[in-house]
Amino acid sequence: MRRLLFVTLMLWLIGCESDPAPASVDAIGGIVDDVSMPAVATVNAAKVAPASACKACHPQHFAEWSGSRHAAAVTDQLFQALVGVRQKQRAGKEDRFCTQCHSIVGVRSGDIHPGFAFSDLQQASVDAVSCAVCHGATEVLRTHNAGLKVDFAGPLHGNLADPKAAAAHKVAPGPLLQSAEFCAACHDVYELKGLSLERPFQEWQDSPAPDQQQTCQTCHMPTYDGQAAVGGPQRTGLHHHRFVGFDPPGAATGTEAGLKAGFDNDLAMLLGDAASLTVLAEVPDATGVANLTVSVANHIQGHSLPTGTTFLRQCWLEVTVRDASGKVLYQSGDLDANGDLRNRWSQLDPFGDSDLISFSSELIDASGAPTLFPWLAAEHHRNALRAGETKTFTYFAPIAKDFHGAIAVTARLRLRAAPPFLLRLVGLETLLPHNRTAELAHDATALAVP
Ligand code: HEC
Ligand code: HEC
Ligand code: HEC
Ligand code: HEC
Ligand code: HEC
Repeated sequence: MRRLLFVTLMLWLIGCESDPAPASVDAIGGIVDDVSMPAVATVNAAKVAPASACKACHPQHFAEWSGSRHAAAVTDQLFQALVGVRQKQRAGKEDRFCTQCHSIVGVRSGDIHPGFAFSDLQQASVDAVSCAVCHGATEVLRTHNAGLKVDFAGPLHGNLADPKAAAAHKVAPGPLLQSAEFCAACHDVYELKGLSLERPFQEWQDSPAPDQQQTCQTCHMPTYDGQAAVGGPQRTGLHHHRFVGFDPPGAATGTEAGLKAGFDNDLAMLLGDAASLTVLAEVPDATGVANLTVSVANHIQGHSLPTGTTFLRQCWLEVTVRDASGKVLYQSGDLDANGDLRNRWSQLDPFGDSDLISFSSELIDASGAPTLFPWLAAEHHRNALRAGETKTFTYFAPIAKDFHGAIAVTARLRLRAAPPFLLRLVGLETLLPHNRTAELAHDATALAVP
C-alpha cells in the first residue's frame, strides 16, 4: 500500500514536470523568450507582494526605494512615451520587449501582453523593479535582457548576519545580490536582433573595478548604520536603496525633504570626482586662429562615462572664448534657444556646431541615417570615455585676425538625462524644467594677445 502511494506520488510529480503549464493559463502572445518573455505566464501578478507590503517593517528601505528610478521604471513618462511609439509602429507585437526588465512581473504574468495599456496594470507590475523582484532572485541565467530567475513564493534573500527570525517572511542567504552579475541581468541590454544598447556590466568587466573588489553596489548602494527592520538589532553596513544615478529621483511623485537631501548627497558623492578636465590656449596664429587643447579624463573606475542609456543621455564639452568685456569670440557645446545642442537634431541651428565634442552614442538605421529609436537601429556608434581613459581634443578657434587684448577661455564637461528635442518630439514638454544639467568638471585659462 505504502509502495503504491509512493509510485502514484512519483507519477504525479513526473506528470507535473512534463506539463508545466496549468490549463487555466492562457498563452500571452507576441515575442517569446523562455527566461524573460515566456509564452505562458510563469507568475501570478495578483500574488506577488507589492512594495507597500514591506513598508511597515522596512520603512527606510521602502522610502529610499520609492524615490529611486527602480520604483519609477514603469511610470517613467519617457519610457511610456517610447513604448507607445513602438506599440504603434509594431502593432503591439513587440510590447513585451521594452518592458521585460522595467516590469519583470508584468511581462512574466501576462499583465503586459500585445496591445496592453499602462493604465490597466496591476500594482505588482507597476512596482517595476520592486523589492520582490530583487529579493526573490535565485539565479542569473544570463547577464543581460532580464536574465534573472525569480522565485516570488520563496524566501527573501539578503546578506544580514543572523537575521532576526521574522514572523512575516522566510529569509535566505543572498550572495547573488552582492554580485555585479545580478545588476547585469537587467543593466546590459540587447535589442531584438542582437544590437548592444546598454552595457555597464561589460564595461565593468573591462575596468579595474573587478580587481579592486568594487561591484556596482559599492558605488551605487553606499552603506550606513541602523536597523534593517523595525524591532531588529542595530547593525553596521546596511545598504542605501536610492540607487543613485544622474536622472531626477522620484520625478513624478516628489520626495520627502529628508529623503531628497539623501539623494542630493549621494549624487554629489557620485559625481564629485567622476571626471576632470584641463584647457590650454595658444596665442592666435597669423590667420587669427587660436589652438585650444582640452583634455578630459573619466575617473570612474567601474565603467564608461557616460554609461547606460548613452543614446538618450547627453554628455558633452562646452568651450567658450571671451574678450575682456565678456563678448563671446568663439563657442562650441552651447545651446540654442530651445535648449538643444546645435547638432543635426537642432531645429534652430542644425549642424551649426561642427566642432561639437559629444560622448553620447548614436543609433544608425539600415539606410545609414541616424535614428532615435533603438528598434530601428542597425548600428550603435559609441563615443564614451572608457574607465580611467583620458582624451585630448584640439579646437581651432577663429578669433579675429587683428585681435589684440586679453582673452579668457572656459571649458566644461556637462551631463543631462535626455535631449530636449526628444522630449518635445514625444510630447513631454512638461518634463523640460526637470531635465537639469550637471557640470562634471571645468577649467579656465586666460592669455594676452599682443
Ligand atoms: C534593484 C534591486 C533591489 C531592490 C529593488 C531592493 N533591494 Fe533590498 N537589497 C538589494 C541588494 C543588492 C542588497 C544587498 C547589498 C549587499 O549586500 O551588497 C539589499 C539589501 C537589503 C536588505 C538587507 C539590509 C541592507 O540594507 O543591506 C533589506 C532588509 C532589503 N534590502 C530590503 C528591501 C526592501 C524592503 C525593498 C523594497 C522597498 C528592497 N530591498 C528593494 C537589492 C535590492
Ligand atoms: C512584519 C515585519 C516585516 C515585514 C512586513 C517584512 N519584513 Fe523583511 N524582515 C523583517 C525582520 C524583522 C527582518 C530581520 C531584520 C534583522 O535581523 O535585522 C527582515 C529581514 C529582511 C531581509 C534580510 C534577509 C537576510 O537574510 O539578510 C530582507 C531582504 C527582507 N526582510 C525583505 C523584505 C521584503 C522584500 C518585504 C516585503 C515583501 C519584507 N521584508 C516584509 C520583518 C519584516
Ligand atoms: C529587474 C531589473 C533590474 C535589476 C536587477 C537592477 N536594475 Fe537598476 N535599473 C533598472 C531599470 C529598468 C532602471 C531605469 C528605470 C528608469 O529610469 O526608467 C534602473 C535604474 C538604475 C539606476 C539609476 C540610473 C539613473 O538613470 O539615475 C541605477 C544607479 C541602477 N539602476 C543601479 C542598479 C544596481 C547597482 C543594481 C544591482 C544591485 C541594479 N540596478 C539592478 C533595472 C534593474
Ligand atoms: C567605481 C564606482 C562605480 C562602479 C563600480 C559602478 N558605477 Fe555606475 N556610476 C558611477 C558614477 C560616478 C556614475 C555617474 C556618472 C555617469 O552618469 O556616467 C555612474 C553612473 C551609472 C549609471 C548611469 C546613471 C546615471 O544617470 O548617472 C548606471 C546605469 C550605472 N552607473 C550602473 C552601474 C552598474 C550596473 C555597475 C556594475 C556593473 C556600476 N554602475 C558600477 C560609479 C560607479
Ligand atoms: C535588458 C533590460 C532592459 C530593456 C529590454 C529595456 N530597458 Fe530601458 N532601461 C534599463 C535600465 C537598466 C535602465 C537604466 C540605465 C540608465 O539609466 O542608464 C533603463 C533606462 C531607460 C530609460 C530612462 C533613461 C533616461 O535617460 O531617462 C528609458 C526612457 C528606457 N529605459 C526606455 C526603454 C525602451 C524604449 C526600451 C525598448 C527599446 C527599453 N528601455 C528596454 C533596462 C532595460
